[in-house]
Amino acid sequence: MTYSATVDPTGSHLTLTTKDGGAIRFHAIWLRDNALDPETRAAGNGQRLITIGDIPADTTIAAASVDGSELTVSFAPEDKTVAYPIGWLQENAYDRSHDQTPGWHAPGVETWDGTQDAPTFDWTEVHEKPAVKRDWLAAIARCGFAKLTGGPAREGALLETAALFGYVRETNYGRFFEVRTEVNPTNLAYTGLGLQAHTDNPYRDPVPSLQILYCLENSAEGGDSIVVDGFRAAERLREVNPRGFALLASYSARFEYKGTDGVWLRARRPMIDLLPDGQMVGIRFNNRSSAPFVDIPFDQMEAYYAAYRQLGEFIDDPDMGVAFKLAPGESFIVDNTRVLHARTGYSGAGSRWLQGCYADKDGLLSTLAVLEADT
Ligand code: FE2
Repeated sequence: MTYSATVDPTGSHLTLTTKDGGAIRFHAIWLRDNALDPETRAAGNGQRLITIGDIPADTTIAAASVDGSELTVSFAPEDKTVAYPIGWLQENAYDRSHDQTPGWHAPGVETWDGTQDAPTFDWTEVHEKPAVKRDWLAAIARCGFAKLTGGPAREGALLETAALFGYVRETNYGRFFEVRTEVNPTNLAYTGLGLQAHTDNPYRDPVPSLQILYCLENSAEGGDSIVVDGFRAAERLREVNPRGFALLASYSARFEYKGTDGVWLRARRPMIDLLPDGQMVGIRFNNRSSAPFVDIPFDQMEAYYAAYRQLGEFIDDPDMGVAFKLAPGESFIVDNTRVLHARTGYSGAGSRWLQGCYADKDGLLSTLAVLEADT
């Protein structure tokens, strides 16, 4: 592939063209800010050594040329010349279509319904085989949940799961918490009641972005786990009621938890979280901890509630959930910013004892990125 570069007469940008007619524009200020030379980027860690204020506001491209697979650019008024690998420029090109449907997903994210099998991995293999660990973390990044089977029925084993990719997020519930019937529960999770599918702790900001639920005993009748893809539920809402989708994304709900002495957690965030360019990045849905909604204008409130109801109907739709009953030593991880979890009620003879903990996706995605680069 042969490339050429043409500098705009103003010097404000250049156009990189390939022989087959592809053309990508880059601005002078962008190229200068992203210079790869050792005065701009630290050789060791790659961190930028200059601030935006160090770059002259009147920076222009004085000259540009292509030599093989490298673009060389001279900047005025600094009189500075920098080389860029063309492959790097192509990877980082921003002169492309940015039109996306509101609620679009990051590359690699796949939404699912109840026809999805639970991605399942073996406890010993994820500990011993980097490629299996990579696939396990990749499944969580792609689907928002995965099961682990074959683990020890040992208290605290869930902490070992978190340590495979990152760090536990300690909260007022402790480093980890017991999910079993209590006499005077501080949270309805600690009863035998069925729980509607929900994301955990929407009253925190930021929310814990991962949850691990690890089974130690499960001989009670019921107590099945169900997971639901909140992204798919939001997509279904968008299909039938785009205005309702926009309302849940545009206005903040409120969430609150005040269950124990010394704790009063509150957050003001939307149920459907979109980035400014419309990428869907989060779902918050939890009937138990929703506080009065006071941030929706009067003339929008009824439509907001109708959309909330509709989203709940999609979440409750039995065709949406993947159900399984954990056996002792089995566990699952959910992306708590996306996948809702539920459980059926349980009672009668036998016992149900799970341990839960929170962790965060940054560590998981970092470990995954390193494993993908290495394997
Ligand atoms: Fe929960």
